[in-house]
Amino acid sequence: MALKSAVELGIADVIHTHGKPITLAELVAALNIGTTKTAYVYRLMRVLVHSGFFRVVEEAYVLTPSSKLLVKDDPNCLSTMVKMLTQPEFLTLSHVLKDWIKDGQVSSSTTTAFEKAHGMAFWEYANGKLEFNALFNEAMACDSAMMNMTVRVCGVVFQGIDSLVDVGGGTGTFGRILTEAFPGMKCKVLELPQVIDHLTGTSGSLEFVQGDMFQHVPSAHAVLLKVRNMPSPIIQFSRL
Ligand SMILES: C[S@@+](CC[C@H](N)C(=O)[O-])C[C@H]1O[C@@H](n2cnc3c(N)ncnc32)[C@H](O)[C@@H]1O
Repeated sequence: MALKSAVELGIADVIHTHGKPITLAELVAALNIGTTKTAYVYRLMRVLVHSGFFRVVEEAYVLTPSSKLLVKDDPNCLSTMVKMLTQPEFLTLSHVLKDWIKDGQVSSSTTTAFEKAHGMAFWEYANGKLEFNALFNEAMACDSAMMNMTVRVCGVVFQGIDSLVDVGGGTGTFGRILTEAFPGMKCKVLELPQVIDHLTGTSGSLEFVQGDMFQHVPSAHAVLLKVRNMPSPIIQFSRL
């Protein structure tokens, strides 16, 4: 929750713009917060320093590698992911977690904690909530932008592949990175209509295909399935 507040207040951006270590008083002034709250900003920063998001240098705050990823100008900015993961829809899951884990019914092994809390599957819920859906898709895209680094370091994995289908590929961020890095590659992004209804069609080497992966997966030389399993993303990649 401290991180969510830091992202919403834009603390990393303020420190970045300041260009040098920022004192508590300077931070409070830059955030346009009344000085009556100085002690609370101090406590917030104390939690975030303790958890490695900021560092104190001569009684002033500086960014760490983690908080550099919260700066809006950074191409790998992950602030939207923090905002998405701290939406009330996810936070309420902690209230049902104990009951969900204790529920030994066979049917409950296929029911997620999300379904228990909200009475419907996650994707169905997202489909009915425009803003939530948009935030979720944006969070997926900002995280996928980091795949640039993967391609730079482990690009050899994708070499020689002519066609690839990114199953549940979101708005095509990773597909775009791949087709730019490997100009000979054609990439199909298979997604639910609610995610790509504004993108359907072909754009360069990228083709958006609306559909349900449990019904049909378009053919290609390789299948990519990239999901998030906290704390780190999982990438399943198979050459066919
Ligand atoms: C965790 S997100 C990952 C998105 C993207 N691969 C990434 O790493 O940024 C899972 C994606 O799978 C899509 N999805 C869920 N069920 C699907 C289905 N039955 N068929 C196709 N796509 C589906 C969702 O819309 C969502 O964009």
